[in-house]
Amino acid sequence: MVEEAKKILYSAVQPTNNLTIGNYVGAIRNFVALQNDYDCFFAIANMHAITVRQNPAELRQRTLSLLALYLACGINPEKCVIYVQSHVPAHAELCWTLNTFTYVGEMERMTQFKDKSARHADNINMGLMDYPVLMAADILLYQTDYVPVGLDQRQHVEIARDIAQRFNNVYSPTFKVPEAMFMKVGAKINDLLDPSKKMSKSSENVNGSVFLSDDKDTVIRKFKRAVTDSEACIRYDSENKRGVSNLLSVYSAFTGKSLEEAEREFAGKGYGDFKLAVGEAVAEKLAPIQKKQAELFADKEYLNAVLRSGAERAAKAANRTLAKVYKKIGFYQI
Ligand code: TRP
Repeated sequence: MVEEAKKILYSAVQPTNNLTIGNYVGAIRNFVALQNDYDCFFAIANMHAITVRQNPAELRQRTLSLLALYLACGINPEKCVIYVQSHVPAHAELCWTLNTFTYVGEMERMTQFKDKSARHADNINMGLMDYPVLMAADILLYQTDYVPVGLDQRQHVEIARDIAQRFNNVYSPTFKVPEAMFMKVGAKINDLLDPSKKMSKSSENVNGSVFLSDDKDTVIRKFKRAVTDSEACIRYDSENKRGVSNLLSVYSAFTGKSLEEAEREFAGKGYGDFKLAVGEAVAEKLAPIQKKQAELFADKEYLNAVLRSGAERAAKAANRTLAKVYKKIGFYQI
């Protein structure tokens, strides 16, 4: 029987700041579900990471730690290709080529470039500006169908599509034109101290974000301090009760209960008990992941084997696309 080829899904995470429970609920947890239905490539984007200055020892350590986390969350390296971006030279090579199909003006107008230039005014380097082209290279090398992303990365996927189409029009169809895939999980988790904004791994106040590495006491302390309101009523109303609604979303995401069930469960209870219950639900889910991550992190040999195999499989797919590109643009081949 001929099996129909699965669609290709590509995603990457930078090994920079610690991931938050928002990243878990909005991304990693979904990847685990998606890995059965798609041919998945998951990269650790260390080349993107260096567009902002990094401490080398930390970058190295975070690379392995992110891998251990992916695996601890249930991403299966037998089913997916999981690899480090810098281990596959085709990324840098295709990025260079695609640079010649990208305009300076359009890169200057990218929202993230403008934001990061403002935040790192002393280091507006070429890499920061070229970031979207490297990301396009990541995606296009694997003939990707879908890129699961949050809203903040939407513009980057748009540019990848534009660049792919531009190249395909000049030569002949070479790249699959990828589509952004928006996760339909109900829960978008917001900052605990400022629930009008998304919980971020790089937020200024670490008490507003719950990290996947936070221990139980820290998790509970952060939830205890979460902003609520003065109504003393636990109901979902994301317009007028942002803090409480956010906590209900977190509770729902971590227990699998619906928002209505959660509301019913906490009817008549005080905010103190409510916050404690949310903190406990989160800490309880994180504990086994943290334990597994620590075990895996200690097994360097295993992690290296996963990365070696990942790099090999990724390179094979990537080099096929790169070879086509080089042929079409007229690079002499021996
Ligand atoms: N820019 C992405 C982020 O910071 C990470 C990333 C790099 C990525 N290359 C990618 C995401 C390719 C999706 C596809 O979140």
